[in-house]
Amino acid sequence: MENQNQEAILPMPRIGDPAPQFKAVTTQGEINFPSDYSGDWVILFSHPADFTPVCTTEFITFASMEKQFEEANCKLVGLSIDGLYSHIAWLRTIREKIEYKGMKDVEVNFPLIEDITMEVAKKYGMIQPGEDTTKAVRAVFFIDPKGIIRTIIYYPLSLGRNFDEIYRVVIALQAADEFGIATPADWRPGDDVIIGPAGSCGTAKNRMDGNEDMKCQDWFFCQKKIDKDTILNAILKK
Ligand code: BEZ
Repeated sequence: MENQNQEAILPMPRIGDPAPQFKAVTTQGEINFPSDYSGDWVILFSHPADFTPVCTTEFITFASMEKQFEEANCKLVGLSIDGLYSHIAWLRTIREKIEYKGMKDVEVNFPLIEDITMEVAKKYGMIQPGEDTTKAVRAVFFIDPKGIIRTIIYYPLSLGRNFDEIYRVVIALQAADEFGIATPADWRPGDDVIIGPAGSCGTAKNRMDGNEDMKCQDWFFCQKKIDKDTILNAILKK
């Protein structure tokens, strides 16, 4: 058989799938994922390895934004193919020695999963052999309060993530759920949102006749204003 000696290839999780379950040891104790996070949004992200510079800048940035994510009901969970003691030593070094863009003395309080066996990384398609066979790529899984994967972003080893975009995704996903809308290119809270396309000729006519609370350039392209405070008051914890 051709694949006899190859490891079983697991299917990659996709948007709309339930987040694969696992139990893991982390720097904050054992976690059962995603059940421990039920009711919260969670970002599960992987990085290639401890004690590497790009990952260090990412951890400092994520840790510095943890309160901001917490206010948006979003918890953070990291993973790399390293052991617990390496994780602990690296996080201590970050706190004691490393400064990035004015951020220093940074304490990483969110859990970092030890995944020496690559069990979790493989379940989540974080090992992409064309890039590296033993290091996880920079994956970002956005998982909703019901444990469903809602967005996935992958970056290669050489490219540090854009954290403004990661935060924007958390807010935009929640805005879409809360207001039943979609968000256009480069949307930020306060920009006009998109109303789903008309599903019938009657609705299309109504919209073009100006009978609904929206601005339509054509029957399929309708937008409305939701101001920034309305969006943020609905999403952010007081
Ligand atoms: C880094 O995080 O610096 C890094 C990790 C793996 C390959 C290249 C860079």
